[in-house]
Amino acid sequence: MAIQRGGFSTRLGFILAAAGSAVGLGNIWKFPFEVGEGGGAAFVVMYLVFCFVLCFPVMVAEIAIGRKTQRNAVGAFTALGHKKWSIIGYLGLTSGVLILSFYNVVAAWAFGYFIDIVMGNFSVGAEAFGGFVSDWVKVGSYTIIFMVATAYVVSHGIAGGIERAAKILMPTLFVMIIALIFYSLTLPNAMEGLKFYLVPDFSEITGTVVYAALGQAFFSLSLGMGALITYGSYVNRKENIVSSAAQITLMDVGVAVLAGFMIFPFVFSQGIETDGGAGLIFMTLPGVFQSLGPILGVVVGAFFFLLLSFAAFTSTISLLEVPTAYMVDEHEVPRSKATWIVAAIIFLVGIPSLLSAGAVDALTGFIQLPGKESAISFMDFAGLIASDTFLPLGGFMIAVFTAYVWRKENFNAEIAHGDESIKGSWLQTYVDFAISYICPVLLGAIFIVTVLDNFLGIKIINILLG
Ligand code: PHE
Repeated sequence: MAIQRGGFSTRLGFILAAAGSAVGLGNIWKFPFEVGEGGGAAFVVMYLVFCFVLCFPVMVAEIAIGRKTQRNAVGAFTALGHKKWSIIGYLGLTSGVLILSFYNVVAAWAFGYFIDIVMGNFSVGAEAFGGFVSDWVKVGSYTIIFMVATAYVVSHGIAGGIERAAKILMPTLFVMIIALIFYSLTLPNAMEGLKFYLVPDFSEITGTVVYAALGQAFFSLSLGMGALITYGSYVNRKENIVSSAAQITLMDVGVAVLAGFMIFPFVFSQGIETDGGAGLIFMTLPGVFQSLGPILGVVVGAFFFLLLSFAAFTSTISLLEVPTAYMVDEHEVPRSKATWIVAAIIFLVGIPSLLSAGAVDALTGFIQLPGKESAISFMDFAGLIASDTFLPLGGFMIAVFTAYVWRKENFNAEIAHGDESIKGSWLQTYVDFAISYICPVLLGAIFIVTVLDNFLGIKIINILLG
């Protein structure tokens, strides 16, 4: 290999970077509003089952493929001798570009709310949120700042700086969410919020909801697009992949679940509708911060949105790293040049999303799908295609590839490499079984059923559930 690829220096560095990729807007912004739109606790139950049963084995497979080949999401399949299967990598690149194109815009909202609150300006409620996001010049400027910062870090390789920052910032975010949970529980109607969040009403489950829960599980864990193949390619062959994957999954799911405990008491105490969609946390939290008083409110509010921006930042880095690593490995483009070219393209791809939050009507009410009640925005549509459709599809193909093309013996040998103690453990036994049977069958079946539901309005699940 002509180019020096670099890598993580320690196991902790890898786990933090991977957890930094996983923990992001998906947990704190997307999870609560998906729960709100998906009818509450029933969605939570499905999401948890999907994360542990279906996604965790796929995570192990991604890391194993990356570590074995020391290649990017496309090159890894070729390096294993299955060039045709690099289609999975190309699908992943497409998903990554699309996801980052709108993710960056939402990160810009978080960063913009931080700046506003520092200025003593609380955008409370739905109207203020609508006004904020439709101001495309302002949001666009923050989007550029965010993309430039991301590209700057990625162009410098897997920098020790980001690992060190993640080590301080992630625990801080955690503590902050817990403190906000305690506060939220003291508010009127908090129990109503908890009930919505924790007591499942399974009649809420429809094909659309299952589809969203599966997509959310993949999105939140950064799976199905080769982000973890790429990060796995920088991992030392002495590490225990299975326990690393378990830790990453637990951290990610933990933050999402806590975010729900934080947000729903707030939503109910302020009498806001749970199906507020992409604006849910932006519409509720500023009001909460404002109620803390002028000084404390600014301090806590600004700090919260700053940390949210940092959580998003460690994810945008991993999203940009996927196409960058591809350019570096496969086309021998110098890292810095590759990074800036890819970042510029992704910014351009994101412009319709930027304009679809109220600035341009045709993009705001972009498309009416048979499975949805009303027209959705371009940004929501991009999310539907890239994260809810392509990621589970990518996950399905990775499972099939691992079990039947690369083959289980090789997969298990890679898992055991460096740490023989994993052999025969219950986790390894489960991963082995799941990747061969549970993941291909269930992921394939759920995928087909929910795609029919969403895009063609064919309601198989509703028919089955009566
Ligand atoms: N997991 C990230 C989040 O929850 C988003 C992401 C998806 C990052 C896919 C990388 C790859 O915010």
